[in-house]
This record gives sequence, C-alpha cells and structure tokens, in this order.
Amino acid sequence: MELVRRPRRLRSSAAMRELVAESALRPSQLIQVFFVRDGIDSPQPIASMPGQVQHTVESLLPAVERAIAAGVRAIDLFGVPLDDDKDETGSIAWDPDGILNRAIAAVRDRFGDDVVVIADTCLDEFTTHGHCGPLVDDGRGNLVVDNDASVEAYCRMAVSQARAGAHVVSPSGMMDGQIAAMREALDRAGFEDVSILAYSAKYASAFFGPFRDAVGSTFKGDRMTYQQDPANVRESVLEVQLDIEQGADMVMVKPAGSYLDVVRRVADMSTVPVAAYQVSGEYAMIEAAAANGWLDRKRVVMESLQSIHRAGADMILTYYATEVAEWLNN
Ligand code: PBG
Repeated sequence: MELVRRPRRLRSSAAMRELVAESALRPSQLIQVFFVRDGIDSPQPIASMPGQVQHTVESLLPAVERAIAAGVRAIDLFGVPLDDDKDETGSIAWDPDGILNRAIAAVRDRFGDDVVVIADTCLDEFTTHGHCGPLVDDGRGNLVVDNDASVEAYCRMAVSQARAGAHVVSPSGMMDGQIAAMREALDRAGFEDVSILAYSAKYASAFFGPFRDAVGSTFKGDRMTYQQDPANVRESVLEVQLDIEQGADMVMVKPAGSYLDVVRRVADMSTVPVAAYQVSGEYAMIEAAAANGWLDRKRVVMESLQSIHRAGADMILTYYATEVAEWLNN
C-alpha cells in the first residue's frame, strides 16, 4: 500500500511510545484513601474491598509512611466511629476525641507538612440513619435531609478538623451553600490557610456500595434528593461554578470511571485544580474480576487511572495510590 500516513511508526518501540505519550501518571497526582476505625486493636479487612482494611490509629501511621516513601503527596481520611457513638445528628463527627479527629492529629503530629492531610467532611459515617445530615419532615410526611442544619454541622466539623491539623477539608454531602459557609467558619476560627476540596459533582451512585461495608454503615435507600442524577452532566458545570464562586480551592468529580465525560467537562471549565475519585465499587469490580483470573489486575488498574487522568483529572483519589506509585517508581 502506498500510505503517507502510517501512525504505527510512532508505536514501534517502548522508547518511541514514551516519547510521544500525551499524558503520564505521577505518584504525586495520586491521593491514598484510608479508613480509621474506633474500638479495634488490629486492622480489620473489608470484605467487599479485598486488600483494603479499616486501620487503627497505630496501624495508619506506617501505612502513611509507605505512601510518602512511594511519592504520594496526599492522603484522604475517613472515620468509622463506635456504633454507640452514632446519633441522629452525627455529633461525634466534631468531637475533638472522635476517631477521625484523633487520626488527623496523629498523622499531622508524625508527618507535619510532609503529606497533605485531607479530611472527609461529611456526616453519613456518624449518623444512626446513615444520611449525610440530620433529617427533617418536609411537611408532607417525608423525611428529608435538612440542608441548612447539615451545613451548620459541616461548619462545626470542618473547624474541628482544622483544629486537629487537617490541611484540607472536603465536604461530600452536596448541600447547597456548604462551601461559602465553611469558608466563613474556617476564616472566623483563624484557619484562613486550610483549603477546601469540594465534592462538587457527586452523583447518587450505586458504585459506593462497598463503602458501606468499609464504614460499617446501615444505610438503606439512596441519596437522590441531594446528590446528582446520573442522567445529568450540565448540572455538574453549575455545581462546580457555584463551588468556585463560594471559595472552593479544588473541585471533585465522583465517581470517576463511569463519569469520564463529566471529568472532561469540568476540567475544561474549571479555574481550579480538578480531582476525580475512583470509588469503592470501581475498586471492587477490578479486584473481583482479577481474583477470578478474568483480567490482568495490574494492567487494568493502570489503564483505569490513566483514563481518569487523560479525561482531565489533575488528582485522583484511589485505594490503589500507594501500590501504583510503587509500580511507577520501578
Ligand atoms: C460520604 C462519602 C461516600 C463516599 C465518600 N464519601 C459515600 C456516599 O456518599 O454514599 C464513597 C466513597 C467510595 O465509595 O469509595 N461521606
């Protein structure tokens, strides 16, 4: 054949392919997600997330150390309280002695500014009903999450996390006005330097299924009245716009893998860094298929993260962060 264009020329060797690669993952773009649970004395495996555990505060520290050694620059912490400490409003979330605040303090104490400590700022792990805020009757006999009361609680929680040493707070409840209120509360408490990573485009997704196991949640139902409908993408642009106007330092799309079009749209319009969250269900699907020998685990993990990055994510929250960073170094 007489072809002028033969794109295969640029695929002919590893050196050539690397030379022309349009994007590359770096360990510093990966954010390791951790769970820390109260009242246990050794790490507990999470059944639906093989390879992941609920940490004790003590076991968390060496895991963070390993992440840092691999070049990971940020961690995201979730707390799992004692069942007895849960209540209707999730008040243990802003108790300085609550598990999440203790874990933040321990990591910050040990590692200082060597790793960016991101705290999840949401109530669903801490409420008895598992919703992201206190419930209220909507006047027609339906219980709904009370937007303004939830925002007030998030402000208390954010300030307590900043006090414990969090560099970044990250509200994931999708309440209206939460970013402006948290910014003001943090500033008033003297935490002008603590930044906000907003879960701006968060979908009411079934891909969070295994996360319920991870945080011991009894949650039933869905979050369709406060998180986004998977049918929508324009709405994400509005949410991101509002969050940036209200002072978000970084924005997030979640989940990631099934929402790459949303990641792209947000990356194209955002004036602040964009994160994407490869969630528990994305992790569980890869692990289950790999355990069955149905796909090549390492290659699929890399490809899934490369795709999220290519779609426009500057940072990726993932349960694979440390492991992938170690692969990238070799
Ligand atoms: C809310 C929160 C959830 C996840 C992260 N933050 C659960 C939810 O909104 O229902 C899910 C993360 C994952 O599935 O990996 N605090």
